[in-house]
Amino acid sequence: MLQIPDDLRSIPAVHAVPAYLKNTYTWAYLDPRNARLLDNETIVGIILFGNHVRLRNAALAEFSSGQSVLQAAHVYGTLIPEIARRIGPKGSLDAMDVAPLQAALCRRKLWGMKQARVRIADASKPGDGLYDVVSCYFLLHEVPDDMKQAIVTALLQRVAPGGRAVFVDYHRPARLHPMRGFYRKLFERLEPFALSMWDHEIRDLGADAAAFEWTKETFFGGVFQKTVAHRRGSI
Ligand SMILES: C[S@@+](CC[C@H](N)C(=O)[O-])C[C@H]1O[C@@H](n2cnc3c(N)ncnc32)[C@H](O)[C@@H]1O
Repeated sequence: MLQIPDDLRSIPAVHAVPAYLKNTYTWAYLDPRNARLLDNETIVGIILFGNHVRLRNAALAEFSSGQSVLQAAHVYGTLIPEIARRIGPKGSLDAMDVAPLQAALCRRKLWGMKQARVRIADASKPGDGLYDVVSCYFLLHEVPDDMKQAIVTALLQRVAPGGRAVFVDYHRPARLHPMRGFYRKLFERLEPFALSMWDHEIRDLGADAAAFEWTKETFFGGVFQKTVAHRRGSI
């Protein structure tokens, strides 16, 4: 049977987290046993239908040595320690998650990396700092539409002149994509905030989009996207 380590057992699982998270994703993010099971590269690969490595590498291409990075939420698997390794000891990684359990899991995988810190915070209220790169990986599809807007707006505000925000998430599949119906049903059953990713460009979710140059790349017939917002100006 899966053992729950003592440091995770003592965390208040459903303390001060947003209602949408409690109501929809307790099984995935607030239950210590499930979280331990899901926080695994193989499981992440299955959930993303084998696209995980491609998406992770597309995200990682945006980071380089010495950068300051804000990570909007914990991500299962190895993405976050890989970001920390990529920016190296001269960089700084400020990672957050609104759920104490998830912040603890993130902290544990960054243990010993002095360039990283993890705090419990809401991505729609990330604090005051400015960063070279702000990273938001598969968070938007898991929050209601008003939160999508609040998060994109708040994260864009944290991008330093010349810096960028990187969003990797779901996207509208091509019209004849053979898995379009499957994804629609999956979202209707399990991910109630995801379908609206099909109807909105990320650039239209945040205020002040005009201060940025936007690029978008799609993957797997349009099912996934990497959207990057480059703030005009120089670092
Ligand atoms: C990044 S998203 C989805 C990631 C993807 N399913 C994975 O892990 O591979 C999941 C995380 O977002 C966190 N989260 C949800 N709403 C948040 C918010 N408003 N601010 C910060 N973190 C949030 C959850 O607690 C969870 O740890």
